[in-house]
Amino acid sequence: MSRVKLTDTVFRDAHQSLLATRMRTRDMLPIAEKMDQVGFFSLETWGGATFDTCIRYLNEDPWERLRALKKAMPNTPMQMLLRGQNLVGYRHYADDVVDKFVEKAATNGVDIFRIFDAVNDIRNMERSIKAAKKMEKHIQGGISYTISPVHSNELFAQFAVKLAELGCDSICIKDMAGLLKPFDAYELVKAIKSKVDIPVQVHSHSTTGMSVATLTKAAEAGADTLDTVISSMSMGTSHSPTETIVEILKGTEFDTGLDIKALLEIAAYFREVRKKYAKFESKFLGADTRILVSQVPGGMLSNLLIQMKSLNAVDKFQAVLDEVPKVREDLGFPPLVTPMSQIVGAQAVFNIVTGERYKVIPTEIRNYVRGLYGKPAAPISDEIRKLIIGDEEVITVRPADLLENSYEQMKEEIGGLAKSEQDVLSYALFPPVAKAFFEKRAGK
Ligand code: CO
Repeated sequence: MSRVKLTDTVFRDAHQSLLATRMRTRDMLPIAEKMDQVGFFSLETWGGATFDTCIRYLNEDPWERLRALKKAMPNTPMQMLLRGQNLVGYRHYADDVVDKFVEKAATNGVDIFRIFDAVNDIRNMERSIKAAKKMEKHIQGGISYTISPVHSNELFAQFAVKLAELGCDSICIKDMAGLLKPFDAYELVKAIKSKVDIPVQVHSHSTTGMSVATLTKAAEAGADTLDTVISSMSMGTSHSPTETIVEILKGTEFDTGLDIKALLEIAAYFREVRKKYAKFESKFLGADTRILVSQVPGGMLSNLLIQMKSLNAVDKFQAVLDEVPKVREDLGFPPLVTPMSQIVGAQAVFNIVTGERYKVIPTEIRNYVRGLYGKPAAPISDEIRKLIIGDEEVITVRPADLLENSYEQMKEEIGGLAKSEQDVLSYALFPPVAKAFFEKRAGK
């Protein structure tokens, strides 16, 4: 009997969190067959930052990676992380690009679409959910978990109901910063399960050291599936070790039924692979409890440190960490997940480095306050709004309603450099980066 299922994240989130998303397809394929035989609920293999990193840094075609992994692992569902209307980028894309992207992701190998929005604005998820539905794929509606005076289990459960009504096949509690505490996870899973009949999956990063306990309590509360990662790529800013969770649940009513011996072989493989990427390794490999106060996710923590180093202001790093929750409050408590983590982080850096709050304001912050990222969880005060956008109006429509369809135009723009519809999509998402990638491929 296997009561709790596991999704292993080694091919996507683990190296995104630990190794700056640098793992190459050639280091994934040799172990793919073994991964496929374990009996995971799914393998997270695509999406998030992997798409961008492939073309930007690795000179790899992300579509080819998807097809290769699918071919190597035909028995286990392939899962991707999709940022709603942002797809795998950092801004909203037009509806026709969203439709085409989801269609191509599905035909190239994605079986499960985990779709979320950084500010939990369901309007930013509707189009991609509809597109995945059309492809008859499993849609997992993500809830970006965060803690604030306006977020509650009741609010998250209501959101889960809306996602189920939109046709989602399961719900994911997405705890990107490792803020979900074990006993809170228990209550949250219960709250969601009392409102919806679809399975609940828990994604909780290990950043604060709580994740193993969090997953255990989530299982006890009835979570159907847990995100873990093979031990040699676990903990720190990554996830709980797969083998550890398997052993914790073994012999209980939540037993995963997975074979620890097969997992140990896989762990040995990644222990070696990881060494190749040592120079990209995150500086936060243990437990970072500062996040419990600053709520800064691991990836954002390393990015902020890099920014402060480049500004020769590492001594102000702690001041920036202290500023993050203040900026977040000013902006109506957005969850600190991509792209909000970068946006809030940039403003916090400016506020500290210039020595004056909101003296320098990035365009993204202005756009956020204009309503272009969706509706914040709490209203932004008139004072902050005026400070950032003056008397400009705030939009109330779905942000992507303001975008013209753009696929055909992109296709025309990139012309013969694009060899497939997938190439056109890569270009539509990251124009200069994709163009450079195609030129290199063509030997120019
Ligand atoms: Co994650």
